[in-house]
Amino acid sequence: MRAAGAAAVTSSYRAVDDLWALASSQAAPGHGVLPVNAHLFRGASPVLVDTGLPAERDDFLEALWSLVPPARLAAVFLTHEDADHAGNLFAVLEAAPQARLVTNYVTLAKLQETASVPLDRVQVVNPGQPVPGTDRRLTVVRPPVYDAPGTVGLHDRATGAVLTVDAFGTYLPEPVEDLRDVAEADVLRGLADFNRMNHPWIALADQLRFDAAVAAVADLRPTLLLSSHGVVAGGRTDLLLEGLRALPAMDPYLPPDQPAFEHLKTEMGG
Ligand SMILES: [Fe+2]
Ligand SMILES: [Fe+2]
Repeated sequence: MRAAGAAAVTSSYRAVDDLWALASSQAAPGHGVLPVNAHLFRGASPVLVDTGLPAERDDFLEALWSLVPPARLAAVFLTHEDADHAGNLFAVLEAAPQARLVTNYVTLAKLQETASVPLDRVQVVNPGQPVPGTDRRLTVVRPPVYDAPGTVGLHDRATGAVLTVDAFGTYLPEPVEDLRDVAEADVLRGLADFNRMNHPWIALADQLRFDAAVAAVADLRPTLLLSSHGVVAGGRTDLLLEGLRALPAMDPYLPPDQPAFEHLKTEMGG
């Protein structure tokens, strides 16, 4: 899920080694901008993680197929069914008929509420399991916070990167390519606002159990935390982990009320 606003265009950049980001962003009125990323593991059996924004379908597919020919795509790993993650799923599956769809069973059930899913191409996975159909050592993980019940992320043994889906998303004052270009206070505010907005149940979380969920990420010793709603955060992993740990003790996020909404309408394009 993401806040409303005008869409940007999809571009691609190398996050680390052969792990690429297919990156866009969206205006987040009152907060700045929110990155929206899919990722691609290139290599012998390429794996696409999520499928971009539906409003940017042509851009997204052009950026994707410039990195990997459709016939070579081995799998689409779908983290969850939200439109900013599954937005171009069926266009990708249609263009790459040999690619498997790897996702959680709960996400599959949600997808079936609105679409006909080619079940013979589906492989369901749970946290702790490898991603099938690729020689890359990708392990399915459960992010510490999520906004859909089937959400699954990934730990990539080759690069040490951990893809955390909606967790660790961060509103940014303006678009940047590296989180080190953003002041620490702005990172913490953007992290707190997005994660409390997108995962309001944080206010109900038991601090000790929440700490354990965040520690499970830290225990992977991630070289990079790659959020669907963040930018490359080399050297800022500890800050992000600490920022997330602080959230259960904070007041719940209060979305704009009607007067505030009236004020934001222009920024929202209305
Ligand atoms: Fe989501
Ligand atoms: Fe999302």
